[in-house]
Amino acid sequence: MSKDLLFEIEQDHFRENFNKYTRKAFQLLPELEKPRILDIGCGSGVATIELAKLSNGEIIGIDIDQSLLDKLNRKIEEKGFSNRMKALKCSLFEMDFPDESFDIIWSEGSIFIIGFETGLKEWNRLLKTNGFLVVHDEVKNKSNKLKKIPSYGYKLINYFLLPEDAWWIEYYNPLEIRIKELRIKYDNDSEALKIFKKYQNEIDMVKKNPKDYGSIFYIMQKLIPSERKLEL
Ligand SMILES: C[S@@+](CC[C@H](N)C(=O)[O-])C[C@H]1O[C@@H](n2cnc3c(N)ncnc32)[C@H](O)[C@@H]1O
Repeated sequence: MSKDLLFEIEQDHFRENFNKYTRKAFQLLPELEKPRILDIGCGSGVATIELAKLSNGEIIGIDIDQSLLDKLNRKIEEKGFSNRMKALKCSLFEMDFPDESFDIIWSEGSIFIIGFETGLKEWNRLLKTNGFLVVHDEVKNKSNKLKKIPSYGYKLINYFLLPEDAWWIEYYNPLEIRIKELRIKYDNDSEALKIFKKYQNEIDMVKKNPKDYGSIFYIMQKLIPSERKLEL
């Protein structure tokens, strides 16, 4: 997609409506001095930048989409966070950070790529003992996922659901309005119209059953091995 079109769709602007939930999740963690944070599947870094504002930590965002990482890199520079933020092209299937590298692992909209349980299992080694894993995930299978958390070496600190229609009201509805405006502007541009159609298909799916698109934040803490036995 052309950079200009991406810029005009302004998806990040709608995504920013969800920063209040990122802040709520972060505030459920104890205060940490200069935490090392890994944001997995950071995209263009809306939440990643918010994490930098919320903490005085060192933050690495990883994603496989270079155009989104470029966008994040521009934001890092604009905000003056270059001394403590990095955007890395890296697949979540190939993270070779040493064991116990991070105080916090953050994942919004990305754990489904590897699967909730596999994500919990594989990311555990990257966390320092007593480090935190914060996952923003679809609400589907919530009860089952909540039950599984201790078996992967974490304690559930807290969780909260976003309001049922948050995704429709705060993201897809404003996005639809924007796409409609742009469709008029790009009426003669077949490439752009194809892109808008893709967006519209996704919007239509959500519009049909907005309540099926609920999401949830899980806030977990890595247990030390002796605590882990007790939880099992
Ligand atoms: C739903 S988006 C979420 C983006 C961002 N975390 C947010 O909340 O705005 C999922 C992100 O995962 C990235 N992704 C997909 N497959 C990936 C992989 N194998 N490794 C790392 N990132 C991946 C996509 O490029 C996309 O940016």
